[in-house]
Amino acid sequence: MQALGERYLRFQKALDGAPLPAALVDLAAFDRNLARLLAPVVAAGKTLRVASKSVRVPALLRRALAAKGARGVMTYCAKETLALAEDGFEDLLLAYPTVQRSDQEALVAASKRTTVSVVCDAVEQLEALSSVAGVAGVEGRVIAEVDLGFRPVGDTVHLGVRRSPLRTATDIAAFADRVARTPHLRFCGVMGYEAHIAGLGDSFAGKQIVSAARRALKVRAQREVERTRGEIATVLRARGHAIETYNGGGSGSVDWTSREPWLTEVTAGSGLLDSHLFDHYQDIRFEPAAYFALQVVRRPKAGMVTCLGGGFVASGQAGVDRLPIPALPEGCALLPLEGAGEVQTPVVLPAGVEVALGEPIFFRHAKAGELAEHFAEYHLIDGARVELAPTYRGRGWCFLG
Ligand SMILES: Cc1ncc(COP(=O)(O)O)c(C=O)c1O
Repeated sequence: MQALGERYLRFQKALDGAPLPAALVDLAAFDRNLARLLAPVVAAGKTLRVASKSVRVPALLRRALAAKGARGVMTYCAKETLALAEDGFEDLLLAYPTVQRSDQEALVAASKRTTVSVVCDAVEQLEALSSVAGVAGVEGRVIAEVDLGFRPVGDTVHLGVRRSPLRTATDIAAFADRVARTPHLRFCGVMGYEAHIAGLGDSFAGKQIVSAARRALKVRAQREVERTRGEIATVLRARGHAIETYNGGGSGSVDWTSREPWLTEVTAGSGLLDSHLFDHYQDIRFEPAAYFALQVVRRPKAGMVTCLGGGFVASGQAGVDRLPIPALPEGCALLPLEGAGEVQTPVVLPAGVEVALGEPIFFRHAKAGELAEHFAEYHLIDGARVELAPTYRGRGWCFLG
């Protein structure tokens, strides 16, 4: 029994006969991750904006926001923004643009309850927001997004996510002018998310060359990001645009983005739960806080068990790293030829470990927020106490299908 490990036994006890599959969050680990994220942000006199997409459980968002130095939520959907505003969340920044009228109406309704800012990068988005804001008699707060992709050889190589067409300080300044000229809108600031740095693991066991190459790339890309974000601040101020909000960062880059003087706030979400894509960073380590438990239902051979369910594959570029990992008992592994299956997931057990039929194996998802799409509630474990908290799905919230 000892071989199962302290955490396995603790989580097993906490679930105590709950129907499986079940999802759980270890609140002590969540709080330590929160403190780790807040430390550099607060030291730099900034605030931490919590990325809702990486959490998707209102009780956990609230827990993070109760901490000193946390302020506001980065939302991912207009209707989500309204739902959170109706729930009493404040200072909402929708980071993903939309042009749908029903979305604009939701944003305008939300902005009657709290401060709502909307990231935009195209005239169509401005016009859509302006027309609905005008009818409702509210002012739409616009944050311009700059694309921070790293393009070392012109436009042929683009390292980074494809987000905004606005790439330079001049682009952003022209866009800010355009916002200022658009009725019912106000230019409120800038968002520049360095996804290719914050989201890039750079420390892989047994892969020294790949890890070193990624670290070198990050150093170069980081210099570019700082230069671009700095230029934007200078140019906007020179043109008389106040920057109320200057948002950057993610869990994987919280330390250095916090030190960038022009940013007013840093966003993070995934680090709170520490999904397993965050296991491979040299400079930042979080503690796994979110797991899902599957029931062991078969024993195809000695040293191997099969769990019911488990095929929660993460979005993004398809690859083995998007599969969940069997985390507890420690030392378990998926079968390369089966991976995590829709209804069955076989797991190889480490030598000397037995898991009886009916008992759980605890897995970690590759991405923090997506786990919540598979469960109506999370078991929040706080020492000996366990509380059930609805996820977005449990609230009946399904924003992106
Ligand atoms: C605009 C933006 N900022 C920040 C983040 C960082 O979030 P996390 O800390 O969950 O990686 C994301 C995540 O995708 C994002 O889209």
